[in-house]
Amino acid sequence: MHRTRPRKVILDCDIGWMNDDCTATIFALKSPELQVLGITPVAGNFDLNWETACALRLLEILGREDVPVCPGFDRPLLHERGDYEDQVWGEWATFKPVDSIPPGLPSIEPDPRYACDFIAQSILENPGEVSILAMGPLTNVAVTIRKYPQVVPLVDELIVMGGAVATLPRGHGNITPMAEFNFWVDPEAARIVLRSGAPIVLCPLNVCRRTRFERQHFDRLTSAGSAHPEVAELFRGYLQPHFDHPEVDKESPRLFYGLYDQIVVAYALRPAWFTTVLMNVDVNVTPGPEYGASYGYTNAPYQSGLDQWPLDDGSQVAKVAHDVELEAFVGLYVSTLTE
Ligand code: RIB
Ligand code: CA
Repeated sequence: MHRTRPRKVILDCDIGWMNDDCTATIFALKSPELQVLGITPVAGNFDLNWETACALRLLEILGREDVPVCPGFDRPLLHERGDYEDQVWGEWATFKPVDSIPPGLPSIEPDPRYACDFIAQSILENPGEVSILAMGPLTNVAVTIRKYPQVVPLVDELIVMGGAVATLPRGHGNITPMAEFNFWVDPEAARIVLRSGAPIVLCPLNVCRRTRFERQHFDRLTSAGSAHPEVAELFRGYLQPHFDHPEVDKESPRLFYGLYDQIVVAYALRPAWFTTVLMNVDVNVTPGPEYGASYGYTNAPYQSGLDQWPLDDGSQVAKVAHDVELEAFVGLYVSTLTE
């Protein structure tokens, strides 16, 4: 679909300092084809207060203090931290004091509106025009849907980085053998969202694992001729030490980074570059080793005459984006951040 006006988006994310949510946020803010209505941090990669400070400081550095930051949930709906949670990635609900962040604390304040109220208000004021780019646990989105169910048919698209679909290539988990981080942190929220009937595009690990950000991309992004020197400086500060590490061979670079949350921004901009399939998708919320694992399927049981598997009668169909034109995507990412 050709759009004549910038696409209105809300970035719901577990942003840190120069993590994938943060660089995806820069990508969205620098794209002239997107109008970022606001940022709604949610506990996930980090504790909520840390994330909020990172979002505010990023906006200051980019000169985009006009974008409201509306913090949301500081913990998942039900998932409590335990021994395993303490050992694996994710500092959600640790409630650490935020006395410093790498670029220095922000001087601007968050918007007083709560994330869910801000999301609903934005959709109700712009029916059919607002898309949510969800890059963290789905707590904020699930509660918005529960509190304001009238917004569900009014969302343009809900583009979600989350889950891993084992019936498609590259579909193993990254935080447990079967579960992807965002869905595992708040499986109940993910289930509410996936079952809501909202127009969902799911970008699971399957598509993220196709991506590579390499030395050649870093060199372009940090080149002297960049039209966004402040962005070049942010990337230099964060990635230069990694790419310059003596064990990285510059002639045949073995070091690369996957682009995860950047995928949802790219989908909002260029959906035609993605390979998609309609699937029933759902999330396991039973405590145990499969907690947070997502699954998806297209075909009904063999010769059953049924449309869907009977064990799964509440699931909905989502568009699952499981592959991408890699060079085009990385090219857009780099050119948006440099031109
Ligand atoms: O599983 C990938 C997701 O969790 C991304 O949103 C990333 O930020 C990570 O922590
Ligand atoms: Ca994220």
